[in-house]
Amino acid sequence: MPVTIVIGAQWGDEGKGKIVDYLAQKSDICIRFNGGDNAGHTVGEFKLHLVPCGIFNSKTVCIIGNGVAINPNNLIGEIEHLENRGISVSSKNLRISTRAHLIMPWHIILDGFQEEERGQGKIGTTKKGIGPVFSDKIGRFGFRMEDLILERNKLESKLKELYERARTILSKVYNYHGEDMDYGLIIQDLLRYQSRLFPYITATEPIIWKALDKGKHILMEGAQGTLLDPDFGTYPQTTSSLCTTNGALQGSGVSWKDITEVIGVVKVYTTRVCEKIHPFPTEMPQNMGDILREQAGEYGATTGRSRRIGWLDIPRLKYVARINGFTALVVTRIDNLGVLPSVKICYQDAKDGRPKYIKMPAGWKTDLTDCLTFSDLPGDAQKYLKKVEKLIGVPISIISVGPERNQIIVR
Ligand code: IMP
Repeated sequence: MPVTIVIGAQWGDEGKGKIVDYLAQKSDICIRFNGGDNAGHTVGEFKLHLVPCGIFNSKTVCIIGNGVAINPNNLIGEIEHLENRGISVSSKNLRISTRAHLIMPWHIILDGFQEEERGQGKIGTTKKGIGPVFSDKIGRFGFRMEDLILERNKLESKLKELYERARTILSKVYNYHGEDMDYGLIIQDLLRYQSRLFPYITATEPIIWKALDKGKHILMEGAQGTLLDPDFGTYPQTTSSLCTTNGALQGSGVSWKDITEVIGVVKVYTTRVCEKIHPFPTEMPQNMGDILREQAGEYGATTGRSRRIGWLDIPRLKYVARINGFTALVVTRIDNLGVLPSVKICYQDAKDGRPKYIKMPAGWKTDLTDCLTFSDLPGDAQKYLKKVEKLIGVPISIISVGPERNQIIVR
């Protein structure tokens, strides 16, 4: 009953998509357990926001778990995009939990207003409705996949109740009377989502448990990263769904007893998509960040915003490893880091507890695709990785050396 959980160890964008795609080759089931279409996983030419990355492996059953908030229109768009490019998506390889919440039009409108309301304290959300949908979930005002498949009159009565409440808030608090809250259009859209998504919606936990009982291999794909978790991240500049190992269990119905491996994905430098005023202690000088951003294309997969770039932050990574119980690390983007002549790592001095930097030579070639083993890597890249592994205290089991599935070193 092996279950492997893949968790982002920083503020998201660590390169989890490619790793999940790689690991999915040996997985019977691939579960996405958190987030919504605020996430963007890049796998080759595809940018996935909701469909688990395991979809590229024809034998893997992909599950969108109860912990995910789904924008149904975008999910349908993503399914069609995949199908148009020859990736088959059917109820055989994609299942959606009846317990997953839908992002409704009002969640997206509210996300915009709430950001404005925060003024200087703006989070810089992706404006996908994430904060409002998870607030409604916890507040018990949510609309779930199980509601979408109700017969028409029951669906309408559930919708009306939630719609009226949202309309009152939007009109009374935010003076919003726009056409995105047109009831006729909303019900029309919901009926379209119902007919399109109906085949995929099911109770997903029994599928997972049955597979576990048969000894099948399950891969769990986290979106965002631990530092965006609303409990253990840099609150309030976080997202609203659970991004840790605990979130994986809560967002899927898998029990802790079934976990065999928790893999933390670490990018060899740090990136963060947030407003400039928010603290980012290891941020690089701008000229270096700019070089790395261009080399590695560090722009948000969902919003296109440029990512802030910093050195590796070991104290935070140790904390993240502890919170999640990492059993191994996957390290990404070692190729890109070579564009800088030298690099720094932030660590905590054992004597005085203060953050300090170690400077190390870099400047290796940025095309490492001919490296098939650890010893093929340039000497300075090997030294850097060994140092990181020692400082975090968790073994590095996989090193990604390029964007393609096979550009990987397994140690
Ligand atoms: P929200 O999840 O849209 O509410 O955004 C909250 C914060 O999380 C913002 O700073 C976003 O930029 C960040 N965020 C959300 N999803 C991702 C992601 O997949 N990668 C990186 N940052 C993200």
